[in-house]
Amino acid sequence: MRSINCLSHLSLIAGLAACVNGDITASGSNFSLSGAGVSYRFHVDPRSGDLISDHFGGPIDDFTDPATISNSGWSTGLDNVGTPGLTNIRREFPDIGRSDFRLPAIHISHANGDTVSAFTYQSHEVVQGKPSLIGLPATFGKEGEVTTLIVRLYDNYSDVSAALSYSVFPEYNAIARSFQITNNGTNNISIERAASFSTDLPNLDLKMLELQGDWSHEANRVIRNVDFGETGFRSTEGYSSHVHNPFFALHDPTTTETTGEAWGFNLVYTGSFAATAERFSHGFVRVLLGLNPLHASIPVGPGRTFQSPEAVAVYSSHGLGGMSRSFHDLYRKHLSRSNHTFETRPILLNSWEGLGANINESSLENLAQETAELGIKLFVMDDGWFGTAPYARTNDTAGLGDWTPNPARFPNGLGPYVDTVDSYSVANSTNDLAFGIWIEPEMVNPNSTLYHEHPEWVMHAGNHVRTLTRTQLVLNLGLPEVQDYIINAISNIIDSANISYIKWDNNRGIHEMSSPAADYAYTLGMYRVMDNLTGSYPEILWEGCASGGGRFDAGILHYYPQSWTSDNTDASDRLTIQLGTSLAYPLSSMACHVSKVPNGLNMRNISIEYRAHVALMCGSFGFELNPSELSDEERSAIPSILSTWEKINPIVISGSFYRIAWPGDTNWPAVQFVSEDTNTAAVFAFQQGAIIKPAAPPLRMQGLNATARYTSNAFNGTLSGNTLMNGGLNLPWKLADYQSMLVWLYKE
Ligand code: DGJ
Repeated sequence: MRSINCLSHLSLIAGLAACVNGDITASGSNFSLSGAGVSYRFHVDPRSGDLISDHFGGPIDDFTDPATISNSGWSTGLDNVGTPGLTNIRREFPDIGRSDFRLPAIHISHANGDTVSAFTYQSHEVVQGKPSLIGLPATFGKEGEVTTLIVRLYDNYSDVSAALSYSVFPEYNAIARSFQITNNGTNNISIERAASFSTDLPNLDLKMLELQGDWSHEANRVIRNVDFGETGFRSTEGYSSHVHNPFFALHDPTTTETTGEAWGFNLVYTGSFAATAERFSHGFVRVLLGLNPLHASIPVGPGRTFQSPEAVAVYSSHGLGGMSRSFHDLYRKHLSRSNHTFETRPILLNSWEGLGANINESSLENLAQETAELGIKLFVMDDGWFGTAPYARTNDTAGLGDWTPNPARFPNGLGPYVDTVDSYSVANSTNDLAFGIWIEPEMVNPNSTLYHEHPEWVMHAGNHVRTLTRTQLVLNLGLPEVQDYIINAISNIIDSANISYIKWDNNRGIHEMSSPAADYAYTLGMYRVMDNLTGSYPEILWEGCASGGGRFDAGILHYYPQSWTSDNTDASDRLTIQLGTSLAYPLSSMACHVSKVPNGLNMRNISIEYRAHVALMCGSFGFELNPSELSDEERSAIPSILSTWEKINPIVISGSFYRIAWPGDTNWPAVQFVSEDTNTAAVFAFQQGAIIKPAAPPLRMQGLNATARYTSNAFNGTLSGNTLMNGGLNLPWKLADYQSMLVWLYKE
């Protein structure tokens, strides 16, 4: 990391010449961060030293005067240094007091009980590349890929300093932002509120789009007006959660998938969070994304520093699709640090929906053998393999925490069993079957040896009842001894057998905590465990899971290149869930499986072709069923599904993704991939219901080369990119429910 000579100090502001460092210009008191299609600008108020937001949007070249607001009135008076009241000003790092009535980005409780802060500019520095965040996941990049501006602020009244970090990734129109608070005083302080990203947008007409849901119902688009007051949502579940995802977009009411302005915000964090857009009387919109204040009150002792999580903001003038592709590309190249991020993922069969926890060596051997015979490369043993009587994991009431194979089910241990699995040759391949395993290391059942030995290791609040969910409790990963226990237990499993994939599950939220700050400590502890294990075993393909998509977030994506998207494997529901998830997260990071019909959750009966098409649009594709229950028709479709997977998976892993039509908006949803070399495109098109009228709209592609000509499996001869994008294809849908087609396009 190279720091360039752009140091400044408040006393020098007036006369300092512009210091241009690629994508960041620090010109006296003005800061400008630029990307291919974005400008992010703010400046220091010369009278108060406050940071003032100027612009976050499409490229601009000049500083322009801010909107004039009348300073009369009860909420808008002058402050004591003669600046217009801070309520009327667009601020970058709002604190509490000093005439700003809006929500703050930083709220500190001082030892004397007051919560006023007065952070004013001290100095700044520009560095090439990006410093890492100690203990927290974050985007990364080298010189030439990312440039970082660090702005230092000081509160003279309380001896607390702040360092704001802005990193611009110009190729993706993305700004990553985080901050540190250092207690330079002699008394403890407490962080009550910390919004990693905060900026004030002007008086624009905006909608807020978020991903709302629940178990088996994740990632539904919800769009509302950003009206006066607070518009927002939060997770208080201890995790990012199924209910709300730490992502939202603000967009113009006219914005579509392909046109218009959109701002995307995403927290790189797995704990509780809060997201807010607050519109005040003048119409300015304060954007805040960071910790949930209910799970903050984080103590910072004298000489200590608090590090906020990172938030990423992306600007798009090409609609929501442009915003999503920026996130996808940024996250694949500069967030997911797994060796597997750009590798095709092995096609797998998971035992859960086929056998549940009712497994033993012989039933699993049969399943593994059938897996290999079908030509599937990885066999995954899900829940039910561990714990010893009386705490054996034969159902979900016992065993969590005791990470040794159940001797009644695996009399010879895991190693010899996995050797047997490994000895099966995969049909039509030179590979032997690989083995993967399920674990849920952050949890404990009261019915376990671990809980009996360490009841003090669980999250709890004094003598309050320890609320059970799925008859389990959450281990307190804020404790170093718990972190070490998990690291050792999981390392022992990995060392005992030839394991090439791990599904890391988490099946409940956090209820009672010893203090609100325990969630932040837990999350940091969890990251330490994940960092340690993925660092020690980088060749393993790690998959995140939390009762499906309960932790589908950018924090997990830093460590694990993929996550199980939902426990709902009904293909029609899954289409909605996957498209919602794709607003922020790359398809390459989604794990999606074909399961049996009728579906176990909603009894829906959908053809194997449609089920496969929905699952094939994800980076990790597989089956989750008992092959012995396949019909002849389903079994005979498998070779063609496998060959489609061979072809599509590299494109899903590294190509670009386009949402052509959403399932909630039309009977004919469709998505498209374009390969990284742009020579191939693949469109998954669906018909949900058989309807006589109206006719299906033409399937109009996106992201093609307008003047190139394409051949296809869907038409004879060639068609130009212009024809396919502006005219489109009329697909020959049958009058039947749940139809699907995969259209390939090859550039000539
Ligand atoms: C919840 C997961 O989401 C499922 O896929 C499965 O692994 C079960 N847990 C096992 O208990």
